Amino acid sequence: RGPDHVSQLPPETLLRLLGYLGPADLCRCSQVCRRWAALTRTGTLWRHLYPVRWATGDSYQGPPGEVDQEPNEEWVRSRQHEGRAYQHWDEDADIDESEGSPWALAAVRREKALLKGLGYHLLPAVGVSVRSLVLAYSSTVSSKMVRQMLSLCPGLSHLDLTQTDISDSAFDCWSLGASPRLQHLDLSGCGKISDQTLRKLSVALGNLSAPQVPGRGGRLLRSAPLPVAALLDGRVPDAAGRKRQAIVFRAPAPGGPAPGPPRVWLLDPLELADIEDAAEWGRRRAGGDTRGLTGASLEGGSSSTSCCCRRSRRRAHRTALSASFLQHRLSAAAAAGGGDGPGGRDSSCCSGPAAPRTKNGGPCPPGGPPSQGPGGTCTRPLRFLSLSGCHQVTDAGLRALSQRGGLPSLEHLNLSGCLLVTEVGLQELVSACPALNDEHFYYCDNIDGPHADTASGCQNLQCGFRACCRSGE
Ligand code: FES
Repeated sequence: RGPDHVSQLPPETLLRLLGYLGPADLCRCSQVCRRWAALTRTGTLWRHLYPVRWATGDSYQGPPGEVDQEPNEEWVRSRQHEGRAYQHWDEDADIDESEGSPWALAAVRREKALLKGLGYHLLPAVGVSVRSLVLAYSSTVSSKMVRQMLSLCPGLSHLDLTQTDISDSAFDCWSLGASPRLQHLDLSGCGKISDQTLRKLSVALGNLSAPQVPGRGGRLLRSAPLPVAALLDGRVPDAAGRKRQAIVFRAPAPGGPAPGPPRVWLLDPLELADIEDAAEWGRRRAGGDTRGLTGASLEGGSSSTSCCCRRSRRRAHRTALSASFLQHRLSAAAAAGGGDGPGGRDSSCCSGPAAPRTKNGGPCPPGGPPSQGPGGTCTRPLRFLSLSGCHQVTDAGLRALSQRGGLPSLEHLNLSGCLLVTEVGLQELVSACPALNDEHFYYCDNIDGPHADTASGCQNLQCGFRACCRSGE
């Protein structure tokens, strides 16, 4: 054995070892050699992204629930200090040392460099596997950066942009159904956003009232019944009559439990966004889960393949691994029968496998990712929405959210500091949110709106840095 015997470990073993490393160490490992660089770009290693925290030396990479706590006032003050330093930072003229302390400027530069690296180098490779993106209290993130990140992360379920300087243009990339998995959106303190953002959000969540097309972005070959032989070996004729390797999905017929005609998508291994996608489907097949998958094979393979201002209640790389590793990984996943990804990361918030990428590059939702119900119908899974301090939002924005089927899963709604909304807009939105929990429903104390006796009051009364009609009282 040579001195580099670590590199001779099987890729899945190396991947598991890499799973114990933090983001900084992973970046160092990516510079060892091309093989390690490819391994470090595996999607499961980058499910949950906290670049602002990482820039401060915190290497947490778990699901957001465990760090979903409000920062203390000292930390918020330090972030505001850095924000002011950033305002005085002229990139062309370098840094004006007379403005801001050196440590604040260093922190700002570190954060900005990290965000740029994330957007230009990491997300193009692993974006489709990202489930959480937390940019809260970033003093350097721009609307352009957020727009770029959102376009690269179509599978986001948790997005936190608290107290950032973004505007409506950050969401320009959201088209119909562009963010169908989004469950948690925190825009607290984003004072520049307006009704436009809410309209885009409503569009991005999909349309409950319109029939959904399974495999949006995918390439539908045919939906007619297929010959049994085609289902068995995973080879189906395309529109030109040529036999192609494909993945075949069955979906219940709309309105009935019986399976509908199979829907077929081409699957090109070179277009796979993440090895985990293929592994997950391999696991499903091995586990006999044929509800959504009746056959899968890979072309070229062997086919085995709480707020600081809280108040009491109201009225008070792409994984560019070799084909052999692809096959190896599938076999390993099938043998293991599931569990966490190779990185050993928690994927509890990522229920359901990431949908395989199809020829056309978009994620397709066979079998039903979280936002897809039976028959591929959209469910708009948004559960948490905070617009605290978004003082430009009006009834028109709330109305946009109540359209396209409303928000059937919404449990937490914070409209504290939304100075322009009225009881009419609130009532309209609430009537479209059947799951709303009054304990987690916050709005201005001066509005006699829906659920007035049971809803919670404004959270921004003594906040100091978020809008409130009673500021200064
Ligand atoms: Fe009216 Fe805070 S916005 S009480």
